Amino acid sequence: MEQPVQTEMWKARSLEELVRILHRLFAEDKVSVEEVQALMESYESNPEEWLQYAKFDQYRYTRNLVDNGNGKFNLMILCWGEGHGSSIHDHTDSHCFMKILQGNLKETLFEWPEKKGNGEMTKKSERVLRENQCAYINDSIGLHRVENISHTESAVSLHLYSPPFDSCNTFDQRTGHKHKVKMTFYSQFGERTLCATAVPQENN
Ligand SMILES: [Fe+2]
Repeated sequence: MEQPVQTEMWKARSLEELVRILHRLFAEDKVSVEEVQALMESYESNPEEWLQYAKFDQYRYTRNLVDNGNGKFNLMILCWGEGHGSSIHDHTDSHCFMKILQGNLKETLFEWPEKKGNGEMTKKSERVLRENQCAYINDSIGLHRVENISHTESAVSLHLYSPPFDSCNTFDQRTGHKHKVKMTFYSQFGERTLCATAVPQENN
């Protein structure tokens, strides 16, 4: 991805249109981070359009695949119950866009731990993302943790990862030790994914 020479001003008037424009943008050789971020932000969240993908679990947040972007990206909806949060994690050298569809999410940024990972991880910043905002992160920016800190409201977010990936590293805040985890989908295209074994879902 590179800086755009000229940013085209897209406006997505529905989720369907957002997906259509994303396909068009990612079909090009070069995609601009700013353009994708602005496009995702331009979509005004309408629950009627995404409710079919928003499947919650009582115990932890869920990842629900919406579109596989012709192999160029994965678009998914994450559903966060009250108090649900991710571990600290990286993004496997991919671009990550995160747009809030409902509620608020707190994002805490961390620095990469020292090589051996031996001690408390350094917090860089934290912020609360609000409805319709779209955040961006990649591994050169750092690591993050995402949480729904509300005790009374759930939250829903729309994530785009490019290129798609299905494993990442999680980090222990106290020690900086990392471990690799495989990620799974709770549902795909609105249909619940059936897992033979209970694979723990992790992150991003
Ligand atoms: Fe993430």
